Amino acid sequence: MDQFLRGLPKAELHLHIEGTLEPELMFELAERNGVALPHESTEALRSAYTFTRLQDFLDIYYQGAAVLRTTEDFYELTLAYLQRAVGDGVRRAEMFFDPQTHTERGVKIGAIIDGITRARRDAEHDLGISSGLIMCFLRHLPESAAMETLEAALPHASELLGVGIDSSELGNPPEKFATVFARARDEGLRCVAHAGEEGPPAYILGALDDLGAERIDHGVRCLEDPAVVARLRDSAVPLTVCPLSNVKLRVVKTIEDHPLHRMLDAGLNVSINSDDPAYFGGYVGDNYIAVRDGLGVDRAGMVDIARGSIRASFLPVGDKERLVVELEQYVAAH
Ligand code: HPA
Ligand code: ZN
Repeated sequence: MDQFLRGLPKAELHLHIEGTLEPELMFELAERNGVALPHESTEALRSAYTFTRLQDFLDIYYQGAAVLRTTEDFYELTLAYLQRAVGDGVRRAEMFFDPQTHTERGVKIGAIIDGITRARRDAEHDLGISSGLIMCFLRHLPESAAMETLEAALPHASELLGVGIDSSELGNPPEKFATVFARARDEGLRCVAHAGEEGPPAYILGALDDLGAERIDHGVRCLEDPAVVARLRDSAVPLTVCPLSNVKLRVVKTIEDHPLHRMLDAGLNVSINSDDPAYFGGYVGDNYIAVRDGLGVDRAGMVDIARGSIRASFLPVGDKERLVVELEQYVAAH
């Protein structure tokens, strides 16, 4: 059954490429780029990965991302993720990146996008995996900084699928970014937003109404407000849920306490994703297995979730339907 879930064709829609930086590659890039790391070894670094809330994680995650400097670094990082994703049955990956984490260190946004894009092209050609790139604005910074980032990225807009917001949620409500999201939409970019991870259900409404978000990243706190649940259900807004992330960042106590099955019972459009797998102890296949084991979702339920992930992607309809056919064939053959 583990093999069945790993091979099941699926889309991964909530994945920060900087969150796939494994300690081994981090040390290699630190050495290559002459960046000092505050840890002696990969084991010491891994043992620092205990978090009590989102901010604990973000502090370590931004520190780790500081080893990423060149186009080649972003190429290697992205190709390593896409290779792993193929092994987990991922047929479509829509990946986030955080340009402001790098541009503040003097890295050019074009160098980042070029490295990621070259890896996406090579992976599509060599491994047959389709992917897209979503640029996230850091919500702890002002909207003016997000707008400067958008302007700097526009010459590369053809390599971008959309925009999102991430980083510290509490105290940084979606409406802070309404103007930059409106501009991004005018440029033809798709809109998503992290909301309802640590923030209240009102932030989910803000993401929909003030940012025009087409998907909500996380969204688990919607369950605290029946009106928000009804809105999400009636409009079938996809929620990109990350179960192992929620356990690691103490959004929930244990996987058994995770509300994903309650979200399914409420008729919500839920997918399973890994968020920052190098930090949270599991890639997307591990998240599927954790949901089956921890929440008792049966085989048909897991297939429904994988099918839903493909439908919730930003692929053109014909491409989605081809992947759904592939999924049905896989299910029939296993
Ligand atoms: N939430 C907010 N910001 C993030 C996350 C997340 O799960 N991962 C990387 N940046
Ligand atoms: Zn995230």
